[in-house]
Amino acid sequence: MMLDLFPTLVGIADSKTGNIAAAVVFVIVTLVYVRSGHYELSDCPGVSKTFTDEVNCRRVLQAKTTNDEHKDLRIALTSRAVPNQRLTVAFGIDNAFTTTSIEKRKSFKDQSISILHRPSLNSGWEKLHFGLRIMIRDALIDKSILLVPLVQSLTLRITLGVLFDLDPVQIPIGVAEELASDINDIWLASKCGSIPIWRTQTRTHMLLRTLISSRNPLDAAENPMNFILPAYETLWRVVLRCFIEIAYRGPRANRTIWRQAIHESLSTNKDESIALAKVSADNIAREALRLYPPTRRVYRYESNLNTGLPEVVAADIEACQRNETEWGADAKTFNPDRWTTIDDPAKRLLAFGDSPFRCPAYNDFGFRMIILLTGALSEGVGEDWELQSDSGDELPEWGTPLCSARKAYSQVRLQDMRSCN
Ligand code: HEM
Repeated sequence: MMLDLFPTLVGIADSKTGNIAAAVVFVIVTLVYVRSGHYELSDCPGVSKTFTDEVNCRRVLQAKTTNDEHKDLRIALTSRAVPNQRLTVAFGIDNAFTTTSIEKRKSFKDQSISILHRPSLNSGWEKLHFGLRIMIRDALIDKSILLVPLVQSLTLRITLGVLFDLDPVQIPIGVAEELASDINDIWLASKCGSIPIWRTQTRTHMLLRTLISSRNPLDAAENPMNFILPAYETLWRVVLRCFIEIAYRGPRANRTIWRQAIHESLSTNKDESIALAKVSADNIAREALRLYPPTRRVYRYESNLNTGLPEVVAADIEACQRNETEWGADAKTFNPDRWTTIDDPAKRLLAFGDSPFRCPAYNDFGFRMIILLTGALSEGVGEDWELQSDSGDELPEWGTPLCSARKAYSQVRLQDMRSCN
């Protein structure tokens, strides 16, 4: 695939500088950068620029080098695929995020769109809610539970259910927990230092084969991680933080209203008074995605406008969506009400990226999954469970966002207070 990239990479340099020498340097540096084993040995490619303002973040998301230039789709795909190569090494994937082929990307996107429609057919959302209630009831038999593994395994079981047409309740919790933990470890290791190579992850292959026996994890085209990664990895972190915000942070009166709005949106018998309160579950999910965008930074590989040399630039979505100039003085506070006065919410929210690569889950599925998982957890714990954390893992004060680090809150527990009386 890498050989495939080079004509496009030359195109990036050549069209911008009109300088063949720069294009040659670009190819040589690219060769060193991509093919030297860099990705296997030492990741963290130097990011030349990180943008935090909306205009530039949008430009990076759109894979444009300047505001008015429209890139050829293949060049745009290349600028996304190169920084994502670490994922092909670490997870053995070949999907829309890693390919430079227009056809492969279209086919993957089309498959994703059809998968994301599944729960809307045959009362799929109600069935998922029903299954989730059972899973949460079973998990809450223990009186003290680590929150992060609980959120991870619930999100993974529900996501696998949708992606591979499985019954989430039948997915063994132990297998889901081990798989979630493996994905987390591989992801963390792939960020920095030596990247573990996918073919050596035999335990993870075994777990995947146990759950999805029809797909070979060692065949890049069939690998279930192609879908698990964009779906599960994005969801669990935002669900964790949305749940903590609506159940345990902020003024009690607000929490009561947020929980009611979410429970109401999951209920099949709608209560009109909640709708009148104008707190919508969509705005709660939207606000969680603003404050805690799961894809915190989006990277693109492009040639520098002045030198023609390749560089990696980043759109810092998280910083952009917390920017006080653009979002007001309370930008760092969880406040779903802010969305009631925003004219075009889909446009303002960058958490799902932007055209031409906007996520197919942006207009319905993403919100509904966040609401479903957050709501079912909040129903399950009711008022009886408190959060308990060891020193170093406490929640920050209201007004300061929760920590976004992947390892954050790993020791936080849900504690059943009824057992303490
Ligand atoms: C809350 C959940 C989700 C968030 C926040 C999210 C976020 C994103 C972002 C930021 C992008 C753009 C990446 C880029 O520009 O390089 C993207 C693209 C994409 N996402 Fe999602 N995603 C979510 C859920 C999902 C799910 C459940 C799927 C299903 C498989 C999915 C499939 C995709 C695909 C296929 C693309 C590429 C679209 C293209 O090439 O045009 N996402 N997502």
